[in-house]
Amino acid sequence: MSAIKSIAVLTSGGDSQGMNAAVRAVVRSGLFHGLEVFGVQRGYQGLLNNDIRPMDLRSVGDIIQRGGTILQTARCKEFMTPEGQQKAADVLRERGIDGLVVIGGDGSYHGANKLSKLGIKTMGLPGTIDNDIPFTDFTIGFDTAVSIVVDAINKLRDTMTSHERSSIVEVMGRHCGDIALYAGLASGAETILVPEVPIDLDAISGRMYENFQSGKRHSIVVVAEGAGNVNEIAEGIAKRNGIDARVTVLGHIQRGGCPTHNDRILASRLGDFAVRKLMEGETAKGCGIVNGELTVTDLDKIISSKKPFNMEMYNLASRLSQ
Ligand code: F6P
Repeated sequence: MSAIKSIAVLTSGGDSQGMNAAVRAVVRSGLFHGLEVFGVQRGYQGLLNNDIRPMDLRSVGDIIQRGGTILQTARCKEFMTPEGQQKAADVLRERGIDGLVVIGGDGSYHGANKLSKLGIKTMGLPGTIDNDIPFTDFTIGFDTAVSIVVDAINKLRDTMTSHERSSIVEVMGRHCGDIALYAGLASGAETILVPEVPIDLDAISGRMYENFQSGKRHSIVVVAEGAGNVNEIAEGIAKRNGIDARVTVLGHIQRGGCPTHNDRILASRLGDFAVRKLMEGETAKGCGIVNGELTVTDLDKIISSKKPFNMEMYNLASRLSQ
């Protein structure tokens, strides 16, 4: 016996690779369990505009491998007001939709939480490259974004070695250093700068100088966008140690392209799980994966917490990159 008869799914905030795989999983799992399933176009904006269409099995065909989101996404100012939230809840009720799966990041979770307090059964799925959602080890899109950064650093390393330069690479992540941390460790970066750890330019430039003296021919510094201004950091290092530096800002390239198998599998598992949890009567929860197990956590708890930074991994990267 299901607690709901119909669900809608939307993607919101910055897109991430694997959102399509998550939409596919929600739609196909919902249909498999006999629910009526709807797709909302352009996130919360689509709710306000009643831009909602029925989804069938074929509507999510040929998308598991695609980046972006077929439902599109938007950042919606009107929905941030209590009036906007009430209007969105009314639209869902008028359309006879009992449950809503929201795929997105922190802001999207806030929206889902507001709707749940207005009587809509909501379930959040962590869809963001930033990996900044607490109570899940990984978010959908993070693995792909890290792969893109690692691939870019491999290329930068070639040319930096030829010219004996340092490469200062800015990566995304908003206030979270996880993309920089994971990509930095995986690419053998000498220095990883994240918002969670204070920056010491004297120590960084001194270490780089010593490494060049002992025969290193390049240096990779990965800078999380939240750690500071990449140009100022590059200038600060070059001024101190005299090593020629080049800045690369990877930007939105990190959010596009084909999702990795890890992101597709995570999205598929979480999408199906979210539907089953709604059917069991759960609401105002965010789904996640912790030590390989699927979990649900109260949205209230998720949005009032901060994801702990993995200092052990940070120290490992530092030990291995001498
Ligand atoms: O949250 C995902 C993200 O790509 C962040 O890493 C970045 O700070 C932000 O979105 C960029 O936002 P926009 O796409 O609006 O420029």
